[in-house]
Amino acid sequence: MHHPQIQRALRSLSIPLERLHVMKGHMIQDMCKGLSRQTHAQAKVRMLPTYICSTPNGTEKGNFLVVELCQTQVRTLLVTLYGDGNLSPQMMYKIYELPEGITRGEGEALFNFIAQCVTQFLSETTSPDTDSEQCLPLGFVFPFSCRQTQLNKAELLSWSKGFNCSGVVGKDVVEMLQTAIDKHAGPDKEGEASGGGGWFKSRKSSQSAPSPSRHVEVVALMNDTVGTMMTCSMEGRACEVAMVAGERWALHVCGGAAGGAVLVLSPITPADKGSNCCFMAEAYLVETTEETSGRMCVNTEWGCFGDDGTLKDLVTPFDQAVDEESSNPGEKRFEKMVGTLYLGEIVRHVLIALTAEKAMFTGTDAAVLKEKGVFTMQHLLDIVNNDDSITEVKRILEALGLQPSERDCGRMQQICRAVMGRAATFHATGLAAILSYMCQTRNLESLMVNVGVEGELFAGYSRFEEIVMSVSRLLAPECMATILASRDGSGRGAAMVTAVALRLAAQRRAVNEVLGPLRLSRDDLVKVQTLMRQEMDRGLGKETNASASVRMLPTYVTHTPDGTEKGDFLALDLGGTNFRVLVVRIAEAGITMASEIYVIPVGVMQGSGEELFDHIIDCIIDFQTKQNLVAQMLPLGFTFSFPCQQVGLDKALLLTWTKGFSATGCVGQDVVQLLREAAKRKRHLGMQVVALVNDTVGTMMACGYDDPKCEIGLIVGTGTNACYMEEMKNVGTVEGDQGRMCINMEWGAFGDNGCLDHLFTHFDLVVDETTINPGKQRFEKLISGMYLGEIVRQILVVMTEKELLFQGKPCPKLQTKDIFKTKFLSTIELNGLALRQIRTILNELELDATFEDCVLMREVCQTVSLRAAQLCAAGLAAVVEKMRESRGVDQLSVTVGVDGTLYKLHPCFSNNLQMTLKDLAPKCNVTFMLSEDGSGKGAALVAAVADRAAKAKE
Ligand code: BG6
Ligand code: GLC
Repeated sequence: MHHPQIQRALRSLSIPLERLHVMKGHMIQDMCKGLSRQTHAQAKVRMLPTYICSTPNGTEKGNFLVVELCQTQVRTLLVTLYGDGNLSPQMMYKIYELPEGITRGEGEALFNFIAQCVTQFLSETTSPDTDSEQCLPLGFVFPFSCRQTQLNKAELLSWSKGFNCSGVVGKDVVEMLQTAIDKHAGPDKEGEASGGGGWFKSRKSSQSAPSPSRHVEVVALMNDTVGTMMTCSMEGRACEVAMVAGERWALHVCGGAAGGAVLVLSPITPADKGSNCCFMAEAYLVETTEETSGRMCVNTEWGCFGDDGTLKDLVTPFDQAVDEESSNPGEKRFEKMVGTLYLGEIVRHVLIALTAEKAMFTGTDAAVLKEKGVFTMQHLLDIVNNDDSITEVKRILEALGLQPSERDCGRMQQICRAVMGRAATFHATGLAAILSYMCQTRNLESLMVNVGVEGELFAGYSRFEEIVMSVSRLLAPECMATILASRDGSGRGAAMVTAVALRLAAQRRAVNEVLGPLRLSRDDLVKVQTLMRQEMDRGLGKETNASASVRMLPTYVTHTPDGTEKGDFLALDLGGTNFRVLVVRIAEAGITMASEIYVIPVGVMQGSGEELFDHIIDCIIDFQTKQNLVAQMLPLGFTFSFPCQQVGLDKALLLTWTKGFSATGCVGQDVVQLLREAAKRKRHLGMQVVALVNDTVGTMMACGYDDPKCEIGLIVGTGTNACYMEEMKNVGTVEGDQGRMCINMEWGAFGDNGCLDHLFTHFDLVVDETTINPGKQRFEKLISGMYLGEIVRQILVVMTEKELLFQGKPCPKLQTKDIFKTKFLSTIELNGLALRQIRTILNELELDATFEDCVLMREVCQTVSLRAAQLCAAGLAAVVEKMRESRGVDQLSVTVGVDGTLYKLHPCFSNNLQMTLKDLAPKCNVTFMLSEDGSGKGAALVAAVADRAAKAKE
């Protein structure tokens, strides 16, 4: 039994695991090659984009027409989906034989024939609920090589499968079909075509007749493979990989009578005996398309894997012989090892070799083995599926005219098992490559995915699924695949693709409607810049100041640091995310500091002023004790991030609270005095407040210490604001014309006088209404961290109501104020990784988000944060342009010191801000400098200047 030749043949067909690992690696490499823009043209595994960017979610409903161009037939079918995952779709089929010669005639004739089939089919088919239909969408299955650039745009590259119609190559086949259909449905032809069905009217006819037109519109074109994936998804579970292993089977109509058609299963076309796979890839990795967000189905065309020699170590002499005898030697090497068209041939060549070596059929006539195709797939299936019955083998071989011995039959069985087993193993290896690739590119530690499988190898070979599962598990242990059986992928799948495309298009329109008002044009931004400039001028003017929404507060800071400042200081930093107490030591060698964060409970922020300032003193005492500073009386600089009317460096009247503070008895009071009084109440005598600065000023000063060009301070954090060095001659509200003074713009209040009303969306209005200061800080509420999460939340609420998210499921948690944190925006907008985190965030909100929900959420966040960055840039553009003007220079070179969590943590904010600024103020060369602990440092620097001046006076 153990004949050495037999052993050798069997061994060459059984591949050790290490080799499969290598093969999997090559497959991944080739997939990447096919996806990359640079290498795509040379890639053997083509990785064709399909422009199918979503799988069905079960809500699809309506009637869908499918036309499939097969080798000798046109298949038409009408699929009715009920928008309820549990209800199986209703289908009507009809097959039309292609007339003799049409596949080699004029292209127009072919498309006219297809259009005629459509007309005919519709005139005979009645479908439920069609009367109200406005438009009948059509999915076109066109299994030829196309350059697809949209779901409904595909240029034929070349014909194959015996087709060669003139005037089609290089043309958009969707357009050709649409034209033919429109022509056929024209008013003159209508009666002739529809025979009273009344289903099918053209767009043209609607112009003459006032009745609503129901035209057929070609919505999607696709290859046949992708349908498999789509049909599996329909069964309720998202399916993101599909494998076709051999001939697919389809439902055909027999009898053809409308309504009462009989459906039978039979092979679609004998040419489809290959192997292929498609999966949902991250769209940004499909470099051959412009699509960057979400996912796109990629048709791998893995049949050509190995055409560049990658499989040479695995190719046996039998495969070699099969390839050489095929019509396309050297091509589709992988397919020739796994495709059902070839498996019988491989077996035949093994037998030829063994017979020649006298290892089989000795002394009998085996001439029949020379006949190409003697072993059919059915023979192989019958043999391997009846594992323990030799009689079956004997029957088959004898029927073919061979005279097998008992031993020959056993060997035949082993050979068939080996060939089929290898085919299944290779399918598993390809699948493992795809699964691992998906897992990697989605940044997942493990991947759970449904795989739709179709084809006679899967349906007919009883061990196929088991081998695929176990081998792919060994090769990609990080992935858990569940196999789902699909039937008639191309037909039903095409309907699904079409349905999904329509759902997405409708959703896109609705999304654009919601987000449209938040998208600003360049003109909008220029207008904001102009308005900001106007408000700045009014704020600086003595007469106009009172009515300006931008306060333009003088700070009494007249110089940025010159590097000679020194001393040890205490500093307070109040008004950002954290309240901090610091000790800052400024020496020639640089600045060193120590600090402590303290919590201010909301009750204290919104309680009485006395409570607030007492609390601050408690924190100072605690800090001094911890830092061993009780004995020293250090001068103190106070960064107080609220609008103050400053009378001097150490005298500042609070104009209004912002950012959620509302402690009573403070507005109109001198904040420095309030702090001193609290110190007295607490009998804390070792404290000497010498300067109060806004956080923007502190930030500018701190950066100015390192870069003399820093003359602007910007905060984009909880709140937003800017300050800059203005010419004294422009400052109408302070005596004197000499030199410069830092102006705290308090731009957060820009628009409080109504000048930005045209920009506010429904969401902004709702967010404003729910704050403690409605109508105030309107610009800030479009930009800063305290509000962006709320804007997003309001948008999500509306989108959920409109059933654009979470499949219309209500989400009560979203009603809770501040539940959607601004830091979520940063997380969500991070590419790649974020999708998983979005899910986690949403799970916390008790939301069950699909991948598409996540993509849409990201778009919402991007829209909101982009608008914020652009508005901030428009404000800044007004500032730098004003500085450039008043300094009378053509080009201004200036540095902005920046701080704030949103600016620091958001992945795109700073970039969007800088790009927009460049566009709006092209004559200004603006550098952004991030300040580390800026405002604390800055307050100390201002204190140093004040301290020096005070000492000089003494
Ligand atoms: C901090 C500064 O780094 O940033 C504060 O020290 C400033 O003075 C704050 O107010 C602004 O950002 P956020 O995000 O904390 O409000
Ligand atoms: C708010 C304050 C302002 C501060 C800004 C950034 O707008 O009114 O003074 O600079 O927030 O913290």
